[in-house]
Formats: sequence, C-alpha cells, structure tokens
Amino acid sequence: MKETRDIVESPDLINFIWARRKNLSKATFMAVMRTVVLAPVPLFFQIIVDEYVKTGNVAGIGAISLMFIGLMCIHYYFSLEGMRLIALEVSKLIMELRSRVFQKLQFLHFGYLDKQKAGRLLSKYAFDTQKVEMSLSSILNTMFPSIAHAVVVCIVLAFLDWRLLSVVLVLIPFYAVSKHAFFTRIMKKNNQARIAQERLTGRANEYISAIRLIRGYGEEVQTTGSLEESSEFYARSRAEQMNINAAYGTFAYVATNLLQLLVIAGGGIMVLNGGMSVGTLFAFIAAMPVIISPIQAFTQISQQYFQGKEGYNSIRELLDSRYVEAWAGSRILPHLQGQIVFDRVTFGYESQPDPALKEFSLQIPNGQHVALVGPSGSGKSTVANLILGLYNPTSGRILIDGCPQEQLDMRWLRRRCAIVMQESLLLSGSIMDNLRFAKSHAEEEEIYEAARLANADQFIRDLPQGYDTKVGERGVSLSGGQRQRISIARAILRDPRILILDEATSALDYESERLIQEAMDNLSRGRTVITIAHRLSTVKKADRIVVLEKGHIMEEGSFEDLADAGGYFQALLSAQG
Ligand SMILES: Nc1ncnc2c1ncn2[C@@H]1O[C@H](COP(=O)(O)OP(=O)(O)O)[C@@H](O)[C@H]1O
Ligand SMILES: [Mg+2]
Repeated sequence: MKETRDIVESPDLINFIWARRKNLSKATFMAVMRTVVLAPVPLFFQIIVDEYVKTGNVAGIGAISLMFIGLMCIHYYFSLEGMRLIALEVSKLIMELRSRVFQKLQFLHFGYLDKQKAGRLLSKYAFDTQKVEMSLSSILNTMFPSIAHAVVVCIVLAFLDWRLLSVVLVLIPFYAVSKHAFFTRIMKKNNQARIAQERLTGRANEYISAIRLIRGYGEEVQTTGSLEESSEFYARSRAEQMNINAAYGTFAYVATNLLQLLVIAGGGIMVLNGGMSVGTLFAFIAAMPVIISPIQAFTQISQQYFQGKEGYNSIRELLDSRYVEAWAGSRILPHLQGQIVFDRVTFGYESQPDPALKEFSLQIPNGQHVALVGPSGSGKSTVANLILGLYNPTSGRILIDGCPQEQLDMRWLRRRCAIVMQESLLLSGSIMDNLRFAKSHAEEEEIYEAARLANADQFIRDLPQGYDTKVGERGVSLSGGQRQRISIARAILRDPRILILDEATSALDYESERLIQEAMDNLSRGRTVITIAHRLSTVKKADRIVVLEKGHIMEEGSFEDLADAGGYFQALLSAQG
C-alpha cells in the first residue's frame, strides 16, 4: 500500500480541546464564574451569626440577604449564558469532527474500508462523536466550575479558620482514594455492561432485519432463544452495574456525613475552647458540600471523560489512517477517449492469500464493447475495481488513453465513467434527485431523455408522483427491474466515456432484462463498454468476449469464434440452451 498523503497526526483529546481554547474560553469563563460568584456565601453566614445576630442588627441581616440575592441573580445569568455558549461551541466542534470523519472516508482506501466491520464506520461517525460531545460538555459545564468553586471557597475558609480547613483538606485525599477503589470497579462493570449492550443490540438488529428469513423458516423459537440469552447477559451485567453504583452511592452518602460530623464535632470543640466563632462553624458547615462536590462529580465525569476519550481515539484511528487512496496523480487529459490497457497486472486483496488477477493483460480500444464472462470469483469485478482505481495493482500497469493510471487525477477519471452494478443503489430523495446525482446541472429534458433511453420514463410517469416519487430507504418500493432502469438512466445521464455494467441484469427476470438490454444497447453506442454478465444473451452484442478463470484469461474472441471453440464458453452456451 502506498502512503502518498502526508497526514498530520491528530492531537489527543486534551490537546484537541486545548487547540480550540479560543472558541471555548468565553463559554468556560462564564461557566466558571457561575460558581465563583457564590464563593462569599459562607462568609455571609459567618457575618450574620457572629455580628448581626449578636448585636440584633436586623438591617444588617437584610443587607446581607440583598447581597445574597444579588449574587444569585449574577449566578443565574452566568449559568444560563455559560450553558448556552458551551452548548453552542461544543456542537460546532462536534460538527467539525463529524465532517472531518466523513471527508476522510472519501479518501480512505478500499483496503481499509473492506476490513471495517459493518456498522463500525457509522458508529464512529454517529456515536463516537456523540461520546466526545457529552464528555466535553460535562468537563466544561460541571468539572471546571465545581473545581473552581471548591478552590475559591477553600480560600475564603482559610481566611476564616485555616486550622479546621487543614483538617478537612487532610481527610479529603483518604476520601478520594477510597472512592477511587470503587471507581475502578465501577468502570469495569460499566465496560462489561457496554459490551453486553453492544452484543444485544447487534444481535437484535440482525434478527429484526432478517425477520422475513426467520419467519419463513419457522425458526422463531431458535432465534428468540438466542436473543434471550444475550438479553439475559445484558440484564445481568446491568444489575451488577446498578449494584456497584448503589453501593458507591451509599458509601458516598455515609462518608460525606462522617466528614460533616467531623467538621461539626471538631468545630464545636474549637468553639467551646474559644478558638473559633460560632459563625465560622456555620460557614464551614455551609461550605462542606461545595468542597466535596468536585470529588463526587469526579467519578461521574471521569467516567464520561474516559468514554469521550475512547470515542475520540476511535475517531482518531480513522482520521489518522495513512491508508488513503494513492491519488498521487493530478493529470487531466484534454479529452478522455476511453482506451484501457492492462499490462501484466497482478493484484490481490489483502485478506486473500491468492491474487485475484495474475499477470493479467487486456487491451480495450476506445469505443469497443467488451464482455467479461467466467465463473464467480474469477476476477471480473476486480477488473472493474481496478479500472476505477479503487484498488492499486501490486505489479504491472494500467494505462488509460496511454497514460499510466497513477498519473491521472482519479476523481476526474471517475467522473467520466459510470458503473451499473447488480445491486442498484438509490439514495433517499425523489427519482429526480437520484438521476441528478450523476449530473447536478442537468436540464429536465435531458433527464427525461435519459430515462426514455433506459426504458424507465414510462413506468416513472405511471407512479402517482411521477419523477417526484420518493425512493430510497423511506420511499416507495420499486421492483428490482425498475430500480435497475433508474440506475441505468443515471448512467446514461452522465454520458460516460467508459461504462461498466457489472452483472447489471443478473438478478432480473427475462422481461426486465429484455427492456434493460434494449436500454443498454442505446447506452453502448460510441463509448467503451465493459459488460460483466452470466447470461449469454447479454453478451451477444459485444465486439469481443473475454473469458476469465482464476484471474487469468482463458479464451478470447467474438461470440461466433468462441461458440464453437470447444472451451468454457461453448460449454456455458450449451448449458444455457
Ligand atoms: N473486497 C474484497 N476483499 C477481499 N477479497 C475480495 C474482495 N472482492 C473480491 N474478493 C475476492 O477476489 C476474487 C475475485 O473476486 P471478483 O473479482 O469479485 O470475482 P467475480 O466478479 O468474477 O465474481 C474472489 O476470490 C473474491 O473472493
Ligand atoms: Mg463480481
């Protein structure tokens, strides 16, 4: 595999955030200010108890209360504004990440894409980005503000009584350490639960999409049983997860109360000894939850942080992959003629021990119609993949109009080719949108003409909404033949110099095939056409037939030549009557 693009490695999550500090700083500042403005609150308690209650100063209490309300108003403003800004900035950042993932997908080599499990790429795009989003929001919205709050409150308390504060601060590490013990177990259980959930949803997804098969075979009991097993496994790990979380919750509750007791008892004794005022004790009691809250938040946030990091690393693996298409070339020919030469090309897929094409040589003059036939797995689609440059030969060369393929701008080439495959993929949207996909500026008349040539115009007009009928995932269900004629119309609209039909009609009945055959004959004129087909009726009109087996050319010639050459083709011919 060639590593042609120099890819700058993405930073890790912390650095990724740090690099965007400019955008995030205002939002973070607001969020932090939200809690920092509350720092003087313990001081208010101290003053009320120590000064105004003793002296009976009601006006003083009123003044402090007004200040308190004032701070709360500021807090309210910073809260709303901080959250709004954080939500805004984080969502912008995640959008950027998602679009980088999608852009990168457009460059990644098929060698990489082949290796990805189905759903994994989607999950990187949709769920891993969401994990990053959640962890970022909670770091900015909860972690930073609560740490800042605890720090400023400690400063205030240190002024009031540094001795009691040091006792509390000395104890907090113990508290944190024992939480950490829980934390490791919680993480483990969370991980187990996540894996169990992925297994369950994966299996449920499979069974739900295969429901026709399952019912058709009458095997509901078997699949229900197997799904139940995953469900039970998930339920069990969920129960364990809830258990450990509940145990942790109880521990935290008890520990917090004990710490509070320590403050009250220790502080009470200090008050009795005359070393501290009652107001200061009040201030401490009021401030305790603030000091403890970052530790309490820590478990939850670090969990989220690790999930975000996990998601981010999974995205980074994709973004940093050097497995990109070797589009080193930037050459654009003045006019693509459509001559294709395979010069002793050997190529093997990475997961396969044997090469799919071995020393494969083939010359297709421009405008010729070549049919590739041969048993399945003989390398026919591989020829098509290589022409489009989706994979690169291990050795040998491919020349397009005499120009080595690696010198060409492959996107330029692909935009002058069209491929119709056995599975005709329609995107969601109207039929019109699907046709326009091949040529976004096409005139309507051009589109109708392409549909007429593809024998598709009539049936499209017969649909209730005609060309505006929605197809794709949520659209009307069209028959295989109808979908295929739409894909052919799409290919015609592109007006390609090189047209590849990869078993475009194999899955169709004879009537649809006849209609499509006609369409394809319209389409073939004046361009290089490569038809890959099983049915011999499809290849009759080809100028030349090439028979492949195990990546070699076995026979080659016109239909008449091969019909009585006594080889594979003749055998195939007699088998198909
Ligand atoms: N994406 C792929 N990854 C790994 N191996 C593949 C891939 N596509 C095809 N192959 C293998 O390459 C060989 C040729 O396949 P292909 O060109 O699709 O054959 P045909 O189109 O003639 O049926 C087969 O052995 C097949 O299993
Ligand atoms: Mg194939």
